[in-house]
Amino acid sequence: MAGKNKPNYTDEQLCTIAGIEADVKEHLAAKPHRLGHSLSVAQCAEKLALAYGVDPYLAHVAGLLHDWDKALSKEQVIERARELGIDLGVDLRLVQPLLHGIVAARELPSRYPDLPPEVWHAISVHTTAAPEMSPLDEVLFVADGIEPMRPDTPGIHSVRKKVGEVSLDDLFWESFVGGIVYVLDGSRYLWPGTIDTYNKIAQRRSHQGE
Ligand SMILES: [Fe+2]
Ligand SMILES: [Fe+2]
Repeated sequence: MAGKNKPNYTDEQLCTIAGIEADVKEHLAAKPHRLGHSLSVAQCAEKLALAYGVDPYLAHVAGLLHDWDKALSKEQVIERARELGIDLGVDLRLVQPLLHGIVAARELPSRYPDLPPEVWHAISVHTTAAPEMSPLDEVLFVADGIEPMRPDTPGIHSVRKKVGEVSLDDLFWESFVGGIVYVLDGSRYLWPGTIDTYNKIAQRRSHQGE
């Protein structure tokens, strides 16, 4: 990965990262694979951020916290989403795999009030993506898909190879489309919101340079 620079964190930022990392280690202690993935996404997001001029600190903390609600069971995350009034226009059981990011983004700000809204937005859209993705959103989305613990499938390998070689928008797009292909290949449920996001971004990309 093209991580040219090293992050230059303040003592306060280092202290916050250490505190959040300790919290995540405790919170996901029963799920060591998920914990390893979260720590790996944090490192990968930090490197991507440095390669693409995004704030590495925000990328790092977003990576640490993005799968916080994977500690919940499938039933629990649906229940939590219902309680929060989260509405994706379909039965929440159909979109259960998408809910943990949205739920975490609603619940974690009160636990970490000093972190800015950009972090919660990135966590909220790390499963669904969105028509408007900020660079931080894209960094977290891509890092989640290519962190080194994930197997080197042809699709992931292709994205990994392009880090630093193509724009962040292009890297995100390949990662996002790869995720849709994965859903289709597995005959899984594809949330209509994902199709809407796909169409909006595809249209925008087709008009680029006109
Ligand atoms: Fe996730
Ligand atoms: Fe993840």
